[in-house]
Amino acid sequence: MTLEAIRYRTGSLQILNQLLLPHQTVYDDIRSVQDAYEAIKSMKVRGAPAIAIVGCLSLAVELRAGAGGDDPVTFIRESLCHLTSARPTAVNMGRAARELMEFAENESMEKNSEQLRESVIAWIEDMLERDILSGVPRDSVTILTHCNTGSLATAGYGTALGVVRSLHTLGRLKRVYCTETRPYNQGSRLTAYEAVAEGIPATLITDSMAALTMREMDITAVVVGADRVVANGDTANKVGTYQLAIAAKHHGIPFYVAAPSTSCDLSLESGRDIIIEVRPPEELTSINGVPIAAPGIEVWNPAFDVTPHQLITGGIITELGVFLPSELQAALTGRLTAL
Ligand code: MRU
Repeated sequence: MTLEAIRYRTGSLQILNQLLLPHQTVYDDIRSVQDAYEAIKSMKVRGAPAIAIVGCLSLAVELRAGAGGDDPVTFIRESLCHLTSARPTAVNMGRAARELMEFAENESMEKNSEQLRESVIAWIEDMLERDILSGVPRDSVTILTHCNTGSLATAGYGTALGVVRSLHTLGRLKRVYCTETRPYNQGSRLTAYEAVAEGIPATLITDSMAALTMREMDITAVVVGADRVVANGDTANKVGTYQLAIAAKHHGIPFYVAAPSTSCDLSLESGRDIIIEVRPPEELTSINGVPIAAPGIEVWNPAFDVTPHQLITGGIITELGVFLPSELQAALTGRLTAL
């Protein structure tokens, strides 16, 4: 069973509200681009691939209702620009926006408004199929992972958790250790929810137990997702990934990034160029509105960190193959659309 995080039928879109998990399973209607913008910003839907898919599907819903009138290209451009601004670190929404805009502009040369709307909707619907990433099965293993990278973060199988899911299906997974992933608890709320729902042997740890777990629990590999992998292999992912990579290196454990090629951005040379989203202090100082920190304390809450390529010792797992960071640029050049 794979969780259905996104429900789409032509003209209607619903998302599983991840703010309410694991206590309530509630699907919210997304009727407009603005609904999607708000759902992405507030993290009702999160995870780099899912952000892009929900953003684009919301546009399809509006186009199906005739949005854009006689000038759909302007409506599409403004909508994509708005959606891309919701969360800047993950590259997938920006990439999808550029690809879709290029497609729409080309189509507009020979099609009328109605035909253009139809072909853009078809392009977006194809995205759902294109998003699914296969895992790479190896020997019987114990994996440590971070954040949520499963069905809730993508349109289907998941990236790092997709690798875990593949291993489990093949009977090759001893256990996955998932970090709680403070401050937003994507690990304890979402990865744990997916693991329990699918019967995957999983153990929850706090983020501060990761190095100890690596030393004591015979971890074979650390596998994480990515919000953006740049040309030299530096990778932005959920804050805490960097310290996991340092600890993995210390313990001689291979560190893998699992990401679709759409999460790779060869236009940026190094991780220094990646914009890191800073989120509200309340995510640290309260849980569900209940204060947990001393009133008045100052807070720094970056949502992501950058893992330098030297620490990605296992490789970068993509649908096009597994590459060392030093091989990535050559392997993907010409196979990705420019950003
Ligand atoms: O802030 P989030 O929950 O959107 O962060 C998600 C992550 O960092 C994931 O690891 C990443 O988007 C890859 S999801 C396949």
